[in-house]
Amino acid sequence: MRLSNQVILVTGGASGIGFATCEHLLQCGASIALWDVNPTAIEKAVQTLDPTGERCRGFVVDVTRAEQVETALAQTLAAFGALHGAFNNAGIGSATLPLADLSENDFDKVVAVDLKGVWLCMKHELLHFREHGGSIVNNASVAGLVALAGQSAYTAAKHGVIGLTKAAAVEYAPAGVRVNAVCPGAVRTPILGHLEEAGIDEAALSGMAPLGRIGHPHEIAKAVEWLLSKDASFATGAAMPVDGGWSAQ
Ligand SMILES: NC(=O)c1ccc[n+]([C@@H]2O[C@H](COP(=O)([O-])OP(=O)(O)OC[C@H]3O[C@@H](n4cnc5c(N)ncnc54)[C@H](O)[C@@H]3O)[C@@H](O)[C@H]2O)c1
Repeated sequence: MRLSNQVILVTGGASGIGFATCEHLLQCGASIALWDVNPTAIEKAVQTLDPTGERCRGFVVDVTRAEQVETALAQTLAAFGALHGAFNNAGIGSATLPLADLSENDFDKVVAVDLKGVWLCMKHELLHFREHGGSIVNNASVAGLVALAGQSAYTAAKHGVIGLTKAAAVEYAPAGVRVNAVCPGAVRTPILGHLEEAGIDEAALSGMAPLGRIGHPHEIAKAVEWLLSKDASFATGAAMPVDGGWSAQ
């Protein structure tokens, strides 16, 4: 029970990697503030994870909206009385197109959720953590480390998430706040639909990783748990690949 008595906030917690992380962190003893933009999916997720609502509560938040993030942070603190860690995971995929063919609207949408949304959540989390301590893990991607062809906006946003992670790690180390990122390779979740629409199927994605397969959301959740826990007490500013070896090539 590595995270007993810890309150952890997970954005994008109603699906995919976020949901699996909520499930795993609950098993590790944490209480979870599950943030997501999709109210129906939140309700279903909380019902599945903790029908009593004692250790897992849902909050409807669009991470691109400053006032919603600020309000949800205040509601989370009011509900649990504390906050010890955050997994900034909410993200969207992009149409798979060469850079010159991507629309301005698509670029803005991806950057708004995948980069600005992470910054907004970090901003409000850090206002609390700099006084009370805490640990942040951001969900970047293998696309934060290497280019994904056809995904220029997503690649740029995810490189930006690693930049935010390193900057905050350096700025808030004196306050004892650790900030790290995980960089998943291809993981079976609904977000892969964008790549599959462009003909990049599971076999092609498996071929990108030396381990020869795509990942399971729980394989990312376990890395997040370690980075949030005291076992990672000397780790900050790291961008940890959990990608089957994709970025090592
Ligand atoms: N699945 C992969 O292969 C993979 C690989 C690398 C990185 N990632 C990253 O993992 C994260 C989670 O993705 P996933 O694969 O679990 O996808 P997913 O679509 O299953 O989950 C994303 C969740 O984020 C929520 N969300 C979207 N926009 C939001 C907003 N504006 N505010 C709040 N919540 C919002 C969605 O409702 C959804 O519940 C993303 O940041 C993604 O870029 C995924």
